[in-house]
Amino acid sequence: MKTIIEPFKIKVVEPIRMTTREERFEYLKAAGYNVFKLRSDDVLIDLLTDSGTSAMSSQQWAGVMRGDEAYAGSPSFFRFEDAVQDIFGFDHVIPTHQGRAAERILFSTVCQPGHVVPNNTHFDTTRANIEASGAKAVDLPVPEGLVPSDPRPFKGNMDVEKLKALISEVGAGAIPLCMLTITNNTGGGQPVSMKNIREVSEVCRGKGIPLYIDACRFAENAYFIKLREEGYQDMDVKEIVQEIFSHADGCTMSAKKDGLANIGGFLATNDERLARREKDLLILTEGYPTYGGMAGRDLEAIAVGLKEVLQEDYLEYRLASVRYLGEHISAEGVPIVQPPGGHAVYIDAAAFLPHVEPSDLPGQSIVVELYVEGGIRGVEVGTVMFGRQDPDTGEEIPAAMELVRLAMPRRVYTQSHVDYLVEVIVAVYRRRNAVGGFRFAYQAPALRHFTAEFEPLYDVGS
Ligand code: F0G
Repeated sequence: MKTIIEPFKIKVVEPIRMTTREERFEYLKAAGYNVFKLRSDDVLIDLLTDSGTSAMSSQQWAGVMRGDEAYAGSPSFFRFEDAVQDIFGFDHVIPTHQGRAAERILFSTVCQPGHVVPNNTHFDTTRANIEASGAKAVDLPVPEGLVPSDPRPFKGNMDVEKLKALISEVGAGAIPLCMLTITNNTGGGQPVSMKNIREVSEVCRGKGIPLYIDACRFAENAYFIKLREEGYQDMDVKEIVQEIFSHADGCTMSAKKDGLANIGGFLATNDERLARREKDLLILTEGYPTYGGMAGRDLEAIAVGLKEVLQEDYLEYRLASVRYLGEHISAEGVPIVQPPGGHAVYIDAAAFLPHVEPSDLPGQSIVVELYVEGGIRGVEVGTVMFGRQDPDTGEEIPAAMELVRLAMPRRVYTQSHVDYLVEVIVAVYRRRNAVGGFRFAYQAPALRHFTAEFEPLYDVGS
């Protein structure tokens, strides 16, 4: 059959509250045109993030009931640990309440001022945790990773030559670890090839630098390898995952993504001495090493979720539903990061609104218009998020790309929701010439996108 169906039935439903265009206009004005400040029940289709927003399965909810809340030595922890070791293969598994807690524990244990940590592209919490330790975070994406229209299959790769050059420049002793983020979220949800993982690993192992994987979307990345990389078509996704992690020395994970859970994460390593030091820090800020800031029931939900996420029916549907959105809007001319990513479609706001300067925040305009038009909440990933204000002149220094991310929660929306998304996005695209820019009315000194307020420079919704 050519139709790829959602491989699940729906047992519990969560009603969506319908709103009118006029109501949405009022909600937006009251929120200072910042969609982070909207109430989520005023949103029809929420594509703000794929993190923690998955629908859990009946087996996961059964796990929630089985959860054992013992402070130490809970059987829920051992089920969680078994699931992680079986899939990822690391000796030591340290539970944390979410991905950034794993990052903080890792980097505050291994990084010092003067150190440098390369990555294909650091996610913002990863970068912030490295910088908080006094070390420097360096992005080394391949050049095509920064060209939205380039359709190459593994645009999430790291530039291996640049990695070698960095090691020669700063010395292996200044690099406590190298990271690869799969899939590359900041770079458009693009996958990293097995070939690239192998090459980066060889370079690192040759220099005695541990390689860590930011594993948030490991299953989606593995399925892209199965679909796109020669030699992997007949392999089980789980075997592909095991091969990926055999090239690494440890990983950080947010179970809010490919753990199919609403909260949780972990840090894993093969280094026993390091694991001891990390557990000491864990006890200080997260909790005892058999729960690490999670409830026993969360550990159970993740143990089941990690197995379900590797089911190929699920992964086929998952990548097909994101691709379906990307292909349908791009067929109508809407410029997106090509090819569509694993967890999200990224609209190229600079090409969508070429008449709006980056300093007038074109991505913000698209986010606002999608909400007014159809109650869709996306997120700006451009100058609002990554640009900054010149401290002397007050002028905006724009980001490298102006994108709007439409992240798909896992197992939450059906194909008719996606058809509705296509209709709304195309309607905004057709009236793009009437859409102008925005300016900041308020901004905080750091992470300004969360709390900023904006003023439109045109007649919104016209
Ligand atoms: N690494 C990557 C690649 C991520 O995308 C995220 C979170 C984290 C680490 C941190 O994990 O949220 O559990 O602490 N990304 C979310 C997003 C927030 O919307 O992309 P966390």
